[in-house]
Amino acid sequence: MTQQNVLGKVYLVGAGPGDPELLTLRAHRLLCSCDALVYDALVPAQLLALPGEACNRVYVGKRRGHHSVPQPSTNQVLTELATTHRCIVRLKGGDPFLFGRGGEEAAHLDDLGIPVEVVPGVTSGIAAPAYIGLPITHRLAASSVTFVTGHEEVDKQRPKVDWRALARATDTLVIYMGIHHIRGIVAELMAGGQDPLTPVAVIQQGATALQKSLIGTLAGLPGMVEGEGIQAPAIVVIGAVVDERVPACAPALPDAEIPLPMTAADLALSRAQQTALLPH
Ligand SMILES: C[S@@+](CC[C@H](N)C(=O)[O-])C[C@H]1O[C@@H](n2cnc3c(N)ncnc32)[C@H](O)[C@@H]1O
Repeated sequence: MTQQNVLGKVYLVGAGPGDPELLTLRAHRLLCSCDALVYDALVPAQLLALPGEACNRVYVGKRRGHHSVPQPSTNQVLTELATTHRCIVRLKGGDPFLFGRGGEEAAHLDDLGIPVEVVPGVTSGIAAPAYIGLPITHRLAASSVTFVTGHEEVDKQRPKVDWRALARATDTLVIYMGIHHIRGIVAELMAGGQDPLTPVAVIQQGATALQKSLIGTLAGLPGMVEGEGIQAPAIVVIGAVVDERVPACAPALPDAEIPLPMTAADLALSRAQQTALLPH
C-alpha cells in the first residue's frame, strides 16, 4: 500500500459496556459523521443507528457457534476501507485497549501508513460492577485491582495468567471472559491461598436491560454460575469490595441490549445491507 492509496483515517472507538449513554462525546461525534462503521458483537444496538443511512456498515463479530472472525480478516477490512472511505469507525465494546485487540489493529494500520487514532471507552470491568453499586477499589477494603482475562484454558501447559500468584498479589480481581473456565480459575485461586469465603459478584450483561447479578463466596462461585446458567458476557469480581456495595447508587438500567453473537441468518441479513467488503 502506498501513501497515495490511503484516503481515510481509522478511529478505534470504545462503545462502552451497553448503556448507550456511557458513550463519550467524541465517540458520538465520530459515529454521527463516519462513512464506514466496522463493528462486532457486544456493541449496543442503538449506537449502530447513529451513522447516516449511506454509512457502510460491516459486521466482523463472532457468529454464534463459531470462532471469532480471524484478526487478519478484520485487519484486511480496515485496510480496504481506508482506501475507499474518509472516516472509518472501528467500534468495539467497552474500551478498545482493554482485551479488545485495539493494540493489534492500531499497530497493523500504522505499519501500513494508515492514520489511526484511539478513542477510549468505559470498560465493562468498571461499569458492570458500578451498575450494582459495587466500587472496585475502596479505601478500607481494596488498594489494588487487577483486570485479568479468564479466557485461557487454566490447565494449558504454559498458562499466561498465574492465578496462584494473583491470589496473593491483588485485593480485587476483575475477571473478563472467565465464565467458561470458572471452575479451574477458582481451584487455582484457592490453591494459591485465597480464602474460600472471599466475597464474589457476577454481573451478566451489565449496564443493559438484561442485566443479571449474583453475589456469593469464592468456593460457591462455580456452582452458582452453573446453577444460574450464567453466560457471556459477564464480569466476575472477587474481593472484599463486594461487601462494600451500595445498591442505592446503581444507575437505573437502560432500555438497551447488546446483541449476542449473530447467527448465520442474522449475518446474512446484515450483509445484505452492506457492500461486499467482508473477506470470505
Ligand atoms: C473481548 S472482551 C472485551 C472487553 C471490552 N473491551 C471492555 O473494555 O469491556 C469481552 C468480555 O468483556 C466482558 N463484557 C463486555 N461487555 C459486558 C457487559 N455489558 N457486561 C458484563 N461483561 C461484559 C465480558 O467478560 C466479555 O466476555
